[in-house]
Amino acid sequence: MKEKDLKNLFETDLRYLYNTEIQISKILPKILKNTDSDKVGQFVEENIKENKKHVDRVKKSFDILGTKLGGKKSLGITGLIDECTEIMEKMKKSDEVVYDVSLLASLQRINHYQIGAYETLSNYSKIFNSTKINELLNKTLVEEKDLIRKLKKVINGLTKIKP
Ligand SMILES: [Fe+2]
Repeated sequence: MKEKDLKNLFETDLRYLYNTEIQISKILPKILKNTDSDKVGQFVEENIKENKKHVDRVKKSFDILGTKLGGKKSLGITGLIDECTEIMEKMKKSDEVVYDVSLLASLQRINHYQIGAYETLSNYSKIFNSTKINELLNKTLVEEKDLIRKLKKVINGLTKIKP
């Protein structure tokens, strides 16, 4: 395997990742608009702030690589976001808590998808020794995992069965 080939693969995946974070930046405000719960709202607002940092770090990674910034449409995240949009519409008439849980469950799947993408790119960057890019990717990876931990807490808080 040549370093150049791995870098090409990395660059392609980075373009998918950039598009992933951009698509997420568009769905998050829609999720926020669809919840009446303060706790869910706070969580989604935090996710919006984190997402902005993630987009910036991906941009920085392009800079470090010396490659022109650009996205490549990620069909993986498009599918998850379409599903999330469908759930937002179809579950609207459900019980309020069930509706909020369904929104959070969609977000959980979206965050797991990102964790997979960041883990892969972090591994590639280690192989071709880009410490700076590796640090940027790992920072986001830690934040994505932290978001899932917080998301689970919110779900657990919501689903306490009332007698
Ligand atoms: Fe992200």
